[in-house]
Amino acid sequence: MTTIREVAKKAGVSPTSVSHVVNNTRFVSEDVRERVQAAMRELNYRPNALARSLRRGETHTLGLILPDSANPFFAEVGHAIESAAFLLGYSVILCNTDNDEVKEYLYTEVLENKQLDGIIFVGAGEDRESISELVKNGLPLVVVDRDMGNLGLDTVTTENYQGGYLATQHLLSLGHQIIGCITGPSNITPSADRVTGYRSALQQAGFPVEESLLVRGDFHAPSGHSAALQLLQLTPRPTAIFVCNDMMAIGALRAASQLGLRVPEDVAIIGFDDIELASYISPSLTTVAQPKLEMGQLAVKLLFERMGDPSLPPRHTVLATTLVVRESSMRS
Ligand code: RIB
Repeated sequence: MTTIREVAKKAGVSPTSVSHVVNNTRFVSEDVRERVQAAMRELNYRPNALARSLRRGETHTLGLILPDSANPFFAEVGHAIESAAFLLGYSVILCNTDNDEVKEYLYTEVLENKQLDGIIFVGAGEDRESISELVKNGLPLVVVDRDMGNLGLDTVTTENYQGGYLATQHLLSLGHQIIGCITGPSNITPSADRVTGYRSALQQAGFPVEESLLVRGDFHAPSGHSAALQLLQLTPRPTAIFVCNDMMAIGALRAASQLGLRVPEDVAIIGFDDIELASYISPSLTTVAQPKLEMGQLAVKLLFERMGDPSLPPRHTVLATTLVVRESSMRS
């Protein structure tokens, strides 16, 4: 088994420096940290976590509860969280709840027995049982993306209402008047806020909100595909669709193609999230960008500050969303 001395020799630093990097017990320069981490990877060094945790009463481990680890949005946010935590000498245990509140609660119980140092939490829905259990447990907690109500916790969310409003206003500015909306699950606050932004933009432009133009999805591509098929067979047919996330928007693009409709000439489509794929599919997707890297990095920053001082007042950060115009939307 590789020793700390062998890592130090490989990295050209002292064993003490290696220990400070592994245990995050003292500031080390970025250069030293990177050299030590490179040597650890090359030598496949595994710190004796149990000895360390017994010695320090910490496990240097965070929990991350996500509703859908297969969705690129959460994959990108989770990647930002894991990368930021690793640089601070912490590992991350990922719990994927599949938007299922029962599974979420089961994971909450699992994490309570792991002696974690902190948890970053994205709720599966509006049920508060899991997050309330974690609050009772006293663990440092940060809530990301989905507002869980006034629980006195640090939160990182984005301007969902503004995003829905901007997307719909963009379509109106292109001359579209019959604009459909494919929503996310009803119990997800970001989706509800986006739909409210859609409704406000239509009302402020003097257009009625036709309930037949709103079709519910579940944030997965197949639901966007079936919802778009339903919308695009209405008479009169909508000439544009605002979709509450990119994965459903990709499903909607498939539906348009299946019906022989050109995007954007026959129907403009806008998504939400700006996942990496959005700029590589054809046509490239106009979408509302969420700052996924910043969301993850800020969540880790807030969590470490909370771990350092549990008495801090709760901080609520709302990050901006921005419209990214690509090929899937143009003048009608
Ligand atoms: O794509 C998944 C969606 O669920 C994202 O829009 C994110 O905001 C989350 O709520």
